[in-house]
Amino acid sequence: MINLPKTQFNTSSESPASVPADWLIVGVWADQPYSGPAGDVLEKLRERGDFGAKPLELVPVLNPIGIAAKRLLFVGLGTRAQAKRAALHDAAAAAARHVTAKKVGTVAFAVPGPEFTLAVGVGLAQGVQGPGIRKSAPTRFAPESLLLVGGNGADMPRVRAESRALWLSRELVNLPPRELYPETFATVAADAGRATGFDVEVWDESRLAAERMGSLLGVAQGSSRPARLAILRYAGAPGKPVLGLVGKGVTFDSGGLSLKPTDGMVDMKCDMAGAAAVLAGVQAIAELKLPVNVVGVLALVENMLSGTAMKLGDVLTARNGKTIEVLNTDAEGRLILADALCFASEQTKFLVDFATLTGACMVALGTETSGLMTNNDGWGDQILAAVSRAGERAWKLPMDSSYDGLIKSKVADMRNTGGGRWAGAIAGGKFLEQFVADAKWVHLDIAGPSFAEGDSATFDAGGTGCMVRAIVEMARGFEGTALV
Ligand code: BES
Ligand code: MN
Ligand code: ZN
Repeated sequence: MINLPKTQFNTSSESPASVPADWLIVGVWADQPYSGPAGDVLEKLRERGDFGAKPLELVPVLNPIGIAAKRLLFVGLGTRAQAKRAALHDAAAAAARHVTAKKVGTVAFAVPGPEFTLAVGVGLAQGVQGPGIRKSAPTRFAPESLLLVGGNGADMPRVRAESRALWLSRELVNLPPRELYPETFATVAADAGRATGFDVEVWDESRLAAERMGSLLGVAQGSSRPARLAILRYAGAPGKPVLGLVGKGVTFDSGGLSLKPTDGMVDMKCDMAGAAAVLAGVQAIAELKLPVNVVGVLALVENMLSGTAMKLGDVLTARNGKTIEVLNTDAEGRLILADALCFASEQTKFLVDFATLTGACMVALGTETSGLMTNNDGWGDQILAAVSRAGERAWKLPMDSSYDGLIKSKVADMRNTGGGRWAGAIAGGKFLEQFVADAKWVHLDIAGPSFAEGDSATFDAGGTGCMVRAIVEMARGFEGTALV
């Protein structure tokens, strides 16, 4: 079911001009003297104002003279001072998209400095995978080989691991919901664990009932596809603290009886992007054998409507005994995360959850920035720093007690919607906060950045692989930290 690019990644220490390849991509700084291949061509382009090396600017040269590669592509990198991971990642992704619309063997990239190997390598991986997974004539062709000319060989294991993880999470998001549902998702997780070397335990619906996960089961009961909880365990630092990662895995969100209109439902196969990020992130961590302990929890359900579906006014009891009045069956993500977070908080005191939780977060922050909510500012800042080191984006939203009223219920301990129009993303955060006990916890609402409705310069439409790179950074930052 899962089909990932077989592309090989390697470095080369040859000079870019002598590397044989179908395409040689050369990154050009806007504010630095150029000393790379085909300097005379570049000089002319600049003189005539045809290329200013602005971020993501692309100029192909289809018959280059004096270099071994068949074709040349200049890509603008912007100014050197702004060269963070995100800028190089995006430049590489845009260039890779340009050269992979046709079948191609080797794509070489002249890395503008060995310190950019990771950014460029994973950026290229981002650009070579497309969403046309069920097209009989593909529209995107991953090359046989990606060659990082002047790249740092020591970074390559990480380039490979993060690239494969990015591809896995995007493929999972792009899979049609008739193929990816809780049971098949759990099987993918188990396969990944076996292949990479981490432990995967899967709970079925009877185990979930025995474990008192009444809130998660409430959501699942309208679907003919039974729920699953997958628990991923990787131990790279026995005896040290454990990083807990929890993912929302609604393999399709119809809204339930609070049915979504078609426009709001069309992309709801993406509602498992949080679980996909957690699975892919743990896979990368295990592949890299990072010295850290991780427990990943994937809450897997389908939110459907039927004669057995939960109803408005129903009251569910979560694993920690708290009762929840269901006033909107479309606020299902927080219901499944409630039980998953309870369980995770019994495993560790350091939690991060990833969830396509609210449209309100997209209204607040747009489609490229995740909302970050936390019950502990120190932990929140640590996670925020990891996200930005990875070249991803998140922005902190307030969680003080002035928002407590958002989840007050007349009949139960809380209700599952904010009730009104305001602070919808924070209402979700305040709800989840009820289930983390005394753990330090961060909630990342990734509804915006996890799925691209259409193509852009750096992305093909579909799953984006959001937070996969960030999870690797979180794990690296967590190494040996004896936070208590
Ligand atoms: N899965 C959706 C949130 C979503 C919307 C993700 C758009 C990606 C893109 C979530 O389950 C949902 O339906 N949330 C409701 C919450 C409301 C009923 C309180 C929403 O945002 O409208
Ligand atoms: Mn929903
Ligand atoms: Zn949802």
